[in-house]
Amino acid sequence: MGAGLDIRSLDAPFGAAVHGLDLNRTPDDPDVIDALVDALHEHRMLVIKHQALDIENYVTFGRQMGEPIIHVVKAIRMEACPEVAVVGNVGERSKSDPLRLAAAFWHTDQAYEDEPASATMLYCVEAPKEGGQTMLTDTIAAYDALDDRMKARLEGLVVRHSYGAASGRDGEYDARGSLTEDQRNNVVSVYHPLVLKHPATGRRSLYAVAGTPEGIEGMAGEEGQALLRDLKQHVLKPAFRYDHSYEVGDLAIWDTFATMHSAVPIAHASADPANTRLLWRISCRGAPAPYRPDTSQPGAAPRKGDWNQGAAHPGG
Ligand SMILES: [Fe+2]
Repeated sequence: MGAGLDIRSLDAPFGAAVHGLDLNRTPDDPDVIDALVDALHEHRMLVIKHQALDIENYVTFGRQMGEPIIHVVKAIRMEACPEVAVVGNVGERSKSDPLRLAAAFWHTDQAYEDEPASATMLYCVEAPKEGGQTMLTDTIAAYDALDDRMKARLEGLVVRHSYGAASGRDGEYDARGSLTEDQRNNVVSVYHPLVLKHPATGRRSLYAVAGTPEGIEGMAGEEGQALLRDLKQHVLKPAFRYDHSYEVGDLAIWDTFATMHSAVPIAHASADPANTRLLWRISCRGAPAPYRPDTSQPGAAPRKGDWNQGAAHPGG
């Protein structure tokens, strides 16, 4: 409980449902936001139930969770509100496989950028009767379950990532198909620790071991690929998994430092009118509001301390 919220663990290895909250009334209430951010870091993902959000309140809430990232694919941005991407299987543009299936592979949002996403949220406007789930895995629990020898082997390793480099495997959608030729010629590599310490909590996570990794620094190509394959298999074990089936009004949000996810591929709604899927997506980077200085009180410390205090903690 926090700020009068009813937060209940899901009947799943991780995740929690939040009841009794109307984000149209309290999109930026500090007590509510503090409780939600704590719950997010504790449970990895939250489903805030029974929302009827208007777009302004949704964006106000999104800004509390970090700095919204304008999606690179212009075609899916909401025209009046570029912080929001419209995803799903309805409308003319969703007939394009690269747009409709762009997230149908295991990945971590923006792991191909220097400053990746810190949280991603999807608000469900239309829910399919069947299919269209978001599959998630808890990469902190997956790290914790490793034996000490493997933890020692992984500590300090650095992974090279680029857009969709490891998509298209194991029957997953190949995200590189959505790149324009110009984008394909300008893909750059970025580097992230394989074992990432959570900015707020310092908990270690097997970070982004699928979707974007090209290889591991200092390891021969095949050796790095083999280790990444093993780790991907490990994090996808049922013990660490939760598949979310949306109901209209769900606002699902996940901690991208502590999870990986994949959309379940879905046909275009014209082929299957009972199964329409329409979600408003906001992905954020950087600190959520409780970890940012309060600009209305110059000199005041953030309510919950500095973002990255966890990552900086010696021994974490
Ligand atoms: Fe994603």
